[in-house]
Amino acid sequence: MDTETRNMPDHIGIIMDGNGRWAQKRNLPRGYGHKEGAMRVLDIVKACYKKDIPYLSLYAFSTENWKRPAEEVQHLMALLQKFIAKYIAEMHENGIRLNVMGDIEALPEKVRESVQGALQTTADNSKMVLNIGLNYGGQDEILRAAKSLAKDVEAGKIDADAIDKEAFESRLYTAGAPPLDLLIRPSGELRVSNFMLYQLAYSEFWFSDVLWPDFTPEVLDVALRDYQNRNRRFGGI
Ligand code: FPP
Repeated sequence: MDTETRNMPDHIGIIMDGNGRWAQKRNLPRGYGHKEGAMRVLDIVKACYKKDIPYLSLYAFSTENWKRPAEEVQHLMALLQKFIAKYIAEMHENGIRLNVMGDIEALPEKVRESVQGALQTTADNSKMVLNIGLNYGGQDEILRAAKSLAKDVEAGKIDADAIDKEAFESRLYTAGAPPLDLLIRPSGELRVSNFMLYQLAYSEFWFSDVLWPDFTPEVLDVALRDYQNRNRRFGGI
């Protein structure tokens, strides 16, 4: 059976990694790797769209990525802005909704404005959600949800004993989205790096040595075939 026909994930998360090493291997500045990586974003969004995968979450910029040289941070921000300017109309036409995880207030003004514009433009779309982690950290997200609930308890809006999974999940950046079914990390690193810590509770993990700029839809197909052969038990037998 091919990947089209059975047991597809509803929600895929990808830690896009290896852009720097891809460029280094070619004696190019790291920025070339990010640029090529941005093209793979487009390819993989299209591939997921064609396969009717309704949620795709991508880690584009972590709360820790500010530690990189200012020039690289600026380059990543500029790439994101360009990506939105170039492709948001097409995404909108195809019914893709953009969602962002992370504190976008800290982004440079121009980038923040373009992200906010794209969020507004695509807000009513329902064919697919492209969820991008920007200045995102999983621990931050959980703390933010806890604080938001604590404030509502303090204000008497909700009873502490009434806090359940649903109430907690409604305060996450992914409110309304299904949990992660499949977490993909290319580039040979075997870690989660603060990505979607809450949502990955029962996720299947798929790691590969392929660097993100080499991550084609064919590589995604390999991951999907592996996923389809996993026996997910969710704690049962
Ligand atoms: C990790 O590679 C990648 C990033 C920190 C950025 C990911 C960004 C993009 C793919 C481009 C822009 C995004 C969008 C949504 C258009 P790395 O630099 O850590 O690679 P290395 O580990 O080989 O150094």
